[in-house]
Amino acid sequence: MTSVIEIAQLGAKVLRLQAEPITDISSAETQQLIKNLQDTLATTEGVGLAAPQISVSKQIIIIASRPTLRYPQAPVMEPTVMINPTFTPLSEIKVKDWEGCLSIPSIRARVPRYKQIQVNYLDQQGFNIEIVLEDFVARVFQHEFDHLQGKVYLDQLESNEDIYSESEYLLAIK
Ligand code: NI
Repeated sequence: MTSVIEIAQLGAKVLRLQAEPITDISSAETQQLIKNLQDTLATTEGVGLAAPQISVSKQIIIIASRPTLRYPQAPVMEPTVMINPTFTPLSEIKVKDWEGCLSIPSIRARVPRYKQIQVNYLDQQGFNIEIVLEDFVARVFQHEFDHLQGKVYLDQLESNEDIYSESEYLLAIK
């Protein structure tokens, strides 16, 4: 059975809701949701996906940093499912760099994000995990975490001048 779901696009109400925490990790429903997220992300050039993007307002994200056409410089990381994630910045330092979003096609922007964060989440078995993330992977996490708060990266910009069309973005990173 195919579990690739159409990705919600900006304007869809589900992208603006506070997502609900998961209370039943082992349930068939939650495990199917995780599979749908994994299968859907695998069909894209994205490096992360949040459940609201497949129209489910629940607190699950996948971080899957890997070099793709969208992010040729991305480090390789095993796709990681994070349930009910939280984070704490480990310093006040923020770095501004490029982001895009599968829910907001054709544009990119330079978004300020914390450089180093401590992340806590439950894994697919329900174990508490605590890790430190830095740089690109920390950025991907903060982007996906925002989706669980009903936010998108455009909400985090310092200026609208940091928004580029895809074609201008490709020229800017050359
Ligand atoms: Ni996104």
